[in-house]
Amino acid sequence: MANILIIGASKGIGLEAVKRGLACGHIVRAFARSAERIAIGHRNLEKRKGDARSSTDVASALDGMDAVIQAIGVSVTPDMLLKRTTLFSASTRVLLDAMGKTGVKRLICVTGFGAADSRSRMGHLQRTAFRLFLGRIYDDKDVQESLIRNSDLDWVIARPVILRNGPRTGRYQVLVDPRQWRGGVISRANVADFLINQVEDDSCLRKTPVLTT
Ligand SMILES: NC(=O)c1ccc[n+]([C@@H]2O[C@H](COP(=O)([O-])OP(=O)(O)OC[C@H]3O[C@@H](n4cnc5c(N)ncnc54)[C@H](OP(=O)(O)O)[C@@H]3O)[C@@H](O)[C@H]2O)c1
Repeated sequence: MANILIIGASKGIGLEAVKRGLACGHIVRAFARSAERIAIGHRNLEKRKGDARSSTDVASALDGMDAVIQAIGVSVTPDMLLKRTTLFSASTRVLLDAMGKTGVKRLICVTGFGAADSRSRMGHLQRTAFRLFLGRIYDDKDVQESLIRNSDLDWVIARPVILRNGPRTGRYQVLVDPRQWRGGVISRANVADFLINQVEDDSCLRKTPVLTT
């Protein structure tokens, strides 16, 4: 049983990780700006309202934790084509600094297939569309990944392919070897399953697996 801080816990993968963490018997601190809206009640769940870019909020949320799952995201809107995003890098700088100070060592982060070196495994057409619609977001995810890779934490960077809602089946691929990286679709619940497994499993430490079905 571990104490897990989940950043970006109010919806999507983060919320699925909250559910999975609780089901596995962990103690979960669910962190988001709208954490109070999480519609789950559980004796092992603490809802913590906070902003991932705030050093004060993050430092206090780390107190007593054994591991962190970082699953923040931005809404993809038409102006994202032009607007620069800094959420991922800014919140990661804050988190790494706070983890360094508090001694929490394990960080499991979600970026996505297309981040950093995985982009080269996309086909030409897919890469062109990806750059057009998600380029600004992934420029910042590249910075986020580089910050984490250069840290001395025990980190895992999970790069899921296209997300969908759907149940946890446990049937998904964890592709560590770059030659195997490929696109596809995966449920948020299966991504959450992988993230929670990494809290106590060392096999993907300092690796950047692509997750697909
Ligand atoms: N959509 C896809 O196909 C796809 C594919 C691969 C990877 N991904 C990536 O997977 C990740 C999760 O995506 P998702 O769609 O499951 O989740 P999502 O719906 O984007 O949820 C984002 C979470 O981040 C939190 N958040 C955003 N800004 C925050 C801040 N400043 N402080 C604290 N929390 C903040 C949100 O909570 P509050 O708003 O309450 O703060 C929410 O809980 C994202 O990084 C996304 O880019 C997506």
